[in-house]
Amino acid sequence: MAPCAGDSVPMETLLAMLRKHNKCGDDKIGADEVTGLVKALDGDDGYWTDARLKSLLEGFGLDKGRLNLASFARVLYDGPQAALYEVVREDLVRLMDSPDWEDGSYAPLLIRLAWHSSGTYNKSDGTGGSNGATMRYSLEAGDPENVLLDKARELLETVKVKHSWISYADLWILAAYVAIEHTCGPRIAFNGGRADAPESKAVAPGRLPGAEKGLADGMEVDEEGRMKGWEKLAAHIRDVFGRMGISDKEIVALLCGGHVYGRCHPAGSGYAGAWVENPTFFSNEYPADMIGDKWIPVMHDTKMPDGGEVPEEVRPAPGKRQYIDLSKYMPEEEEEAEVRAAPDASEHPAGRYRCVSQWVNCREQPDVTSDIQGRFVQNQELSLLAVKIFGTAIRGLTERGGWVSIVGSGGKTLFERLGDLESKMLKGRYRARTSAGASTSSEPKLGAAGVGKVLAGQEFTVAEIAFGEDPDSGAVFGKLEDSWVLLYSREQGLLCELIVEGYNEKPRKAIKGQTGHQMMLVSDMVLLWDAGFKEHLQTYADDDALLKKDFGDAFKKLTELGCPWSKEFPGAAGGSPVAPMTGCPFVG
Ligand code: HEM
Repeated sequence: MAPCAGDSVPMETLLAMLRKHNKCGDDKIGADEVTGLVKALDGDDGYWTDARLKSLLEGFGLDKGRLNLASFARVLYDGPQAALYEVVREDLVRLMDSPDWEDGSYAPLLIRLAWHSSGTYNKSDGTGGSNGATMRYSLEAGDPENVLLDKARELLETVKVKHSWISYADLWILAAYVAIEHTCGPRIAFNGGRADAPESKAVAPGRLPGAEKGLADGMEVDEEGRMKGWEKLAAHIRDVFGRMGISDKEIVALLCGGHVYGRCHPAGSGYAGAWVENPTFFSNEYPADMIGDKWIPVMHDTKMPDGGEVPEEVRPAPGKRQYIDLSKYMPEEEEEAEVRAAPDASEHPAGRYRCVSQWVNCREQPDVTSDIQGRFVQNQELSLLAVKIFGTAIRGLTERGGWVSIVGSGGKTLFERLGDLESKMLKGRYRARTSAGASTSSEPKLGAAGVGKVLAGQEFTVAEIAFGEDPDSGAVFGKLEDSWVLLYSREQGLLCELIVEGYNEKPRKAIKGQTGHQMMLVSDMVLLWDAGFKEHLQTYADDDALLKKDFGDAFKKLTELGCPWSKEFPGAAGGSPVAPMTGCPFVG
């Protein structure tokens, strides 16, 4: 049997075999041996330059001339070229979240960079597209549609400097794939091999779609609230995407998956606001809200139904028109329509819960107007340490910080109870979250003699959990080496938060300025108004898993248009992408 036949031999088996042959027992292999093997694979094209080898070896933690066997197994398993891109992926993941940038994430900006570098493609002559990275040149960078993307290009410079062998064209697309995956979108298999083109290939402005192109002047709408001239805007969208060879269904998937991210900037495009409540997380909130909510057109100086101005967060610059979500603008209206008796929380005590909705936002406070911190998705399980009735809703405090609705204000159940709190779900690494830290005592009892404290922000491991003697206190204690720390009590609230991988390894930052107002560009609204688009919009509103798959496929197609391996590559029948490879390249 071949020792590593791709899918058929698990990574762990391969690693165990390598370990058996590791004579010096240090769990490492010499970098020279790896280099020799990788170079032996090289065809005549001399792919494995010193710069690529350096990235591969250093990326996998080369230590005193030797490489971890686990990393080497990964190289064997995925193929060295795919492993090389994996190294760049890891560096990209590291720059993705930043408290310095809007909503704490560069993901939206990087996704837009990849879309705009690809969206110039013209299938009839093979010009434009992601192969070339021609937005580096002023002609294309100066397209008004590309405003603010200089920041995305600048951000990626550090990665380019570290991995000088990768083309800008590949880097921009890989960064978007990483951004999408990192924010719970689909994982898109990356094919490398795009080349950077000279300035003569830069595309003049005019190929990217405009959000109001074709609309009549003014604010006149028909009886269904559609702005005059919308049919021409629909035709413009079909023309632009049709020029690339992209179908109606793919257009809808791309917009649903693209505009779930980020926001518009009055100082950039002139439009304002985010399309969804949580703009740094993949979901089908865009089609669901587009269909489910009520939208009204606004300009900069539109008077709202209450006589006031358009809320700043979604107020476009003078001369621009967009839609805003009326149901979010007037939450009282919604509440009134759904007046219910106050719920009874006795069926929802603290305990283990499972999310039964497609997604549920996690907020800083039990109040639904407080800032969003994160989001949970269907089937995710958590421990809720406390439960509160809030208006007509029941809300629970999560062990990792933040509140979720167990039952929403309209009566919908969002979390189902699985059972009582369990020690095994609560053990783990914690962080003290209040400025006063958390006190420690010799026994897991409220009022027991204090022996010290953990400081604000300090992280520590809890190996054992104890619940307070008085169930009404709700107290939960965690065992440190020789004392107990109070993690939660009804009186003091959540003092320490459980650190959960992929959620709050870094303390979570609430999404800035998101007060619940949402927007749609007129070009987004067209998906609702045009019967051909709406059919797909409805499908994606009902099926988030299908959207995830179709968005991944459509984004891959978009970003590979005109690439050397695609069938439309000018003057060629299409070649092979550089990566990924699977299976063992060295054997059989
Ligand atoms: C009819 C087609 C489209 C139009 C008219 C359009 C228009 C716009 C506009 C005006 C903005 C705001 C830019 C700013 O002010 O910073 C924007 C942002 C954005 N667009 Fe699109 N777009 C379209 C399609 C797409 C597609 C297909 C994707 C990706 C698949 C996408 C991804 C994004 C992202 C992620 C942002 C947010 C960027 C940020 O937060 O910095 N868009 N779009």
